[in-house]
Amino acid sequence: MDRKKITIVGAGNIGATLALLLARRETADITLIDINEGVAKGKALDIMEASPILGFNAHVHGTGDYAETAGSDVVIITAGFPRKPGMSRDDLLFKNFEVVKSVSEQIKKYSPDAFVIVVTNPLDAMTYTALKVTGFPKNKVMGMAGVLDSARFAYFISEKTGISVENINAFVIGGHGDDMVPLRKFTTVAGMPVTKFLSKEELEEVIQRTRFGGGEIVRLLKTGSAFYAPAASILEMVLAILWNKRKILSASVYLDGEAGEYYGASGLCVGVPIILGKEGVEEIIKLDLTDEEWADWRKSVESVKRLVEKLPL
Ligand code: LMR
Repeated sequence: MDRKKITIVGAGNIGATLALLLARRETADITLIDINEGVAKGKALDIMEASPILGFNAHVHGTGDYAETAGSDVVIITAGFPRKPGMSRDDLLFKNFEVVKSVSEQIKKYSPDAFVIVVTNPLDAMTYTALKVTGFPKNKVMGMAGVLDSARFAYFISEKTGISVENINAFVIGGHGDDMVPLRKFTTVAGMPVTKFLSKEELEEVIQRTRFGGGEIVRLLKTGSAFYAPAASILEMVLAILWNKRKILSASVYLDGEAGEYYGASGLCVGVPIILGKEGVEEIIKLDLTDEEWADWRKSVESVKRLVEKLPL
């Protein structure tokens, strides 16, 4: 059986880390593409030189030519500009729109049957851009942010409670911006409500830290943004699709029909709980939120809407 083919667009920190993680799982052969061809080729070769030691058989190939990405099963868009300290993700809108637009045109041309996972910020507006420019079905285009935000939320809860991360089930929905919506009601520690382990004040502190989790890393790194946890989050999504896990996770997807109406966000891509499997977005789960969570949700949707309205699409 032929191996699956995954293309990672952008050989920066996220792209290269993801290539290594995917190769180690022998999920597929990987094409790493970057406008700086030397960086893509150099990082791909470096990863392959680790394969005899780490013992993986997947092939990682670097290129600057989209023809070599042809026929990919999954394409991950990490290309674009990261923010600098003091900037919000939204400040990247127009610069990264041009990047995601031109990448999406190439994906449409060379890999018309691919699933597309968008990582470039501002995430929800860039997912919408990829969806519109490729014209792919809505179940095949999604943005990675909810998995990352939920992982941060889970880690911070683990740190505060002193309970293993393995026991924490945390969930964040909404846009991937400063007003994302970490869910209190659906966050549990070994199946028990998180409020059994954290006071209201402690939980609020953790929620605020989650909302600004990306910015905390940007401030520390000074010249870039997070990449280990984002790469791990993309890996989780790719495996859910390729191994048909039907995993429930949070992702930015296009909302219309019944789900769009339920969430009051028709025509937008925003983070919601989905079932992710071999068909991509197989179902959007409608959550019964508290009044406070609905209010937070609406605020987050408004932020995404304001950005999308500015896009020349
Ligand atoms: C993140 O959350 O780490 C990314 O969206 C990058 C950023 O600028 O925060």
